[in-house]
Amino acid sequence: MVILLAGPSEPSGELAESISRELGARLVAAQWKVFPDGEHYVRVPVDLNGEEVYVVQTIGPPQNDSLIQALLLADAALGAGARRVGLIAPYIAYARQDRRFLPGEPVSIKIILQALKSAGYDEVVTVEIHKPESLEWFEGRSINLSPYEYMAGKLDLSGDLLVLAPDKGALGRAKRLAEALGADYDYIVKHRDRVTGEIVMEPKEIPAEGRTIILVDDIISTGGTIAKAASLLFQQGARKVYALVAHALLAGNALEKLEKFGIEKIYAANTLPRKESPILEYIDIGPLIAGSLSV
Ligand code: R5P
Repeated sequence: MVILLAGPSEPSGELAESISRELGARLVAAQWKVFPDGEHYVRVPVDLNGEEVYVVQTIGPPQNDSLIQALLLADAALGAGARRVGLIAPYIAYARQDRRFLPGEPVSIKIILQALKSAGYDEVVTVEIHKPESLEWFEGRSINLSPYEYMAGKLDLSGDLLVLAPDKGALGRAKRLAEALGADYDYIVKHRDRVTGEIVMEPKEIPAEGRTIILVDDIISTGGTIAKAASLLFQQGARKVYALVAHALLAGNALEKLEKFGIEKIYAANTLPRKESPILEYIDIGPLIAGSLSV
């Protein structure tokens, strides 16, 4: 029997419950605390009795705390008798630093994945990692789920839909979502200055006039990409602009910015800590994750 061990990072408890409901699997919540000096402590409060265990611990904000907890949980689960331990981390921080963009930088995601393996995980299940090839740095089984088709099934949108990727690299996402919705798709031309972070979008002609646009991306972080795209689309006559993302980091004032830029709604998978806003709606992807596990 598989056991799901819920870690402390938000919304790991909610996801673990949803996955265990789907699988009819046993759910155990890890105990945890932070010592006065800032060090983390985790404990598995039961004997795992030779069972197969999946730790559910998304590695999102606060990223460094979530990461250290994920590392400690692997050893705790093995020490408590797990036969093997896999990690369900729908978001893995540092995935965007997947190469040395400037001389002297680290390949951060490589180090994170190697650390997870050496902590004891033999499998990593994640959702829409920034570049799927990054998972080759994990020396074990890995699953990278695309959530867009699943999320499409939960939308209730009507009108003349056009799905847009905010850069050419994200066109595959737009295609998957568009096909699931029976809509057209295209992309916008975006460049980002590696040093200042400034985003420039080229005014490519898009058939936006009078249409309902869904901007699809892996991540909303500062909201700059979606805000810039929305402003370009409204200039070109779009009727409504929605955003659909796997990971809603929504750092700093991103939500306020997106509200100000007239985004109708942001649909986000529940891979990261929840934020509150009338324009934000989460889609539970626990059933999608459950369906990917070979248990
Ligand atoms: C970039 O390559 C990613 O796919 C996202 O477009 C980016 O991380 C979004 O960041 P922000 O919300 O800060 O523009």
